[in-house]
Amino acid sequence: MKIITTLLTIVSSICLSFAETAPPSVLITGANRGLGLELCKQFLKDGYTVYGTARKPEAATELKETGAHVLQLDVTSEESISALAKTLKGKPLDILINNAGYFGPNKIGTKMDTIHNVTRKEIELCHAVNTMGPLFVTQALLPNLNAGTGKRIINVSSRSGMLSRKGGGAMGYRLSKAGINMVTVVLNSQLQPKGFIVASVAPGHNATDMGTARGKLSPAESMPKLKHVIETLTPKQSGGFWYYDGSRLPW
Ligand SMILES: NC(=O)c1ccc[n+]([C@@H]2O[C@H](COP(=O)([O-])OP(=O)(O)OC[C@H]3O[C@@H](n4cnc5c(N)ncnc54)[C@H](OP(=O)(O)O)[C@@H]3O)[C@@H](O)[C@H]2O)c1
Repeated sequence: MKIITTLLTIVSSICLSFAETAPPSVLITGANRGLGLELCKQFLKDGYTVYGTARKPEAATELKETGAHVLQLDVTSEESISALAKTLKGKPLDILINNAGYFGPNKIGTKMDTIHNVTRKEIELCHAVNTMGPLFVTQALLPNLNAGTGKRIINVSSRSGMLSRKGGGAMGYRLSKAGINMVTVVLNSQLQPKGFIVASVAPGHNATDMGTARGKLSPAESMPKLKHVIETLTPKQSGGFWYYDGSRLPW
């Protein structure tokens, strides 16, 4: 009996040490291009287990080449979110980065939606991707985040969503990014007492498909900085809005 107890103790301590040394994990939505893709590369470089999602994994060539685990996800689809949760069932997750985003039908710097031409369909789509997407992806992955030790939920927002910032165009985008900031505030109230760090972040104006060539930053320059912000946020900073360079943004 004593031998069995000793053996069990050895086995459980080996399991625990494996758990302790398991690399941290991060899931990044909208990872097939732009900022999400660069974030995947940066986390992989540091030895993280990286789950990168794409609406069309079969076409996500560059993401696959990074070595990330590529998973299908359309953040506007309940079925797709449920399937993701099913695939990840039982897997602890340390960091969730709700990065997938939609700007609108027109590029930055061109004719953008205003009160004169905005449609219900566009406002709904922006909210479905940028506000409700992160909310329901977080809901579905809460069991995984609860099982992880990092307990970080990061919502990629934008300075365009700041109530204190002037600017009129891109109504759907602005409204939905203000919405994700409120999701951060509400989730923080509910989850910070349970050990979570919840934050909105703004990546700066980057040269991506969304940011266009007008973006002053390159993802390779800004994403290592944003990664550092994500990793070093303290419980006291939970519930805030952070710029990629580490400075605090007003709502
Ligand atoms: N670039 C900037 O200057 C800037 C500035 C401020 C904030 N941001 C924010 O940063 C985040 C990333 O921006 P980015 O510049 O990398 O944009 P991007 O180049 O346009 O890439 C957007 C990503 O989101 C994905 N996506 C769009 N709709 C989706 C949906 N319904 N379900 C799942 N994924 C979806 C896209 O997938 P598909 O390839 O399938 O379309 C793509 O992977 C966004 O939240 C954006 O609002 C960017």
